[in-house]
Amino acid sequence: MASTPLPPASSPAGIIDQFGRRLTYLRVSLTDVCNLRCIYCMPEDMTFRPRAELMSDEEIITIVRMMAALGIYKIRLTGGEPTVRPHVVEIVRQIARIPGIRDIAMTTNAILLPQLAEPLARAGLKRVNISLDTLNPRKFKFITRWGDLDKVLAGIEAAEAAGLKPIKLNAVVTRGFNEEDVVDLARLTLERAWDIRFIEVMPFGSEADFAQSVVVRSQETKARIEAALGPLHPIPGHDPRDPARPYRLAGARGTIGFISSVSEPFCESCNRLRLTAEGKLRLCLLRDGEFDILTPLRAGQPVEEIKRAILDAAYYKPWGHGLPDGVIPTSRLMNQIGG
Ligand code: 5AD
Ligand code: SF4
Repeated sequence: MASTPLPPASSPAGIIDQFGRRLTYLRVSLTDVCNLRCIYCMPEDMTFRPRAELMSDEEIITIVRMMAALGIYKIRLTGGEPTVRPHVVEIVRQIARIPGIRDIAMTTNAILLPQLAEPLARAGLKRVNISLDTLNPRKFKFITRWGDLDKVLAGIEAAEAAGLKPIKLNAVVTRGFNEEDVVDLARLTLERAWDIRFIEVMPFGSEADFAQSVVVRSQETKARIEAALGPLHPIPGHDPRDPARPYRLAGARGTIGFISSVSEPFCESCNRLRLTAEGKLRLCLLRDGEFDILTPLRAGQPVEEIKRAILDAAYYKPWGHGLPDGVIPTSRLMNQIGG
């Protein structure tokens, strides 16, 4: 039976969901593997997916190309830890060449940046967000289980030297581990032009009970910083799509922000989609709903048809997460989504 050819699935208006949100930003997980084992992210004995289940380099590029044709213009590479993926520099170079892609960033633990910052920047990477939960080497080792703080600090310097600016630092605040360390981290902004963001820990799957037992609300973190370092002044004119509302200490070079996913969700201005390392489009970080792109691609389904199906799936992006109603995502841990 001859099927009617579909018109091309291009979308001059971009990808728009049922609530009218324009989805222009795709976070691509390159691997679920990581060279650390942060306590709020995964168990120490984590088992990873077999390589064959992950998107190949070519499949990543094909899917990003489809997404760019639909209106995605900003890409963030995540993990696990994206820098442990073989050929990460080449992947960045290929993505940078895709028409329509204007911005490529990466979220990384920075361990490998002393070697990789320069080649990544040359390949077209613009910026990095680096995870840093404490400036205390002993606590850093404890939180990441395997990490060496000096390597991360060297990675931050390498990123800056390679021109990957502005440098954003992410600190997940966890009670009993680093809630007092926020003051030292905030103090860094007095001397360095770094943007540090304090993140409320979010619950996922088997680590959810732990996450919920250690969450520290942004309000408390902000009060702790102000008590030690003086008032935080809101910075006017901030981009509503940035989940961190920025502040500054008097005379500081860098900024301080709070990502309050749990206490003050920012779903209204969400412009994101996520692609897991096995090629599933995840519509919301904190909801389990996903749409499989890789299986039809491997089955040889025409690209135009897959693009149409992506537009349909993205239309049903849920409004927001269900944490206030006790709905916790169970299908994946953070390293299997990429944050
Ligand atoms: N809640 C909030 N942030 C998390 N991250 C990892 N796990 C969690 C969690 N459960 C952060 C990391 C890193 C980014 C990828 O996500 O610290 O900055
Ligand atoms: Fe690795 Fe990031 Fe998870 Fe830490 S939070 S274990 S650095 S993926």
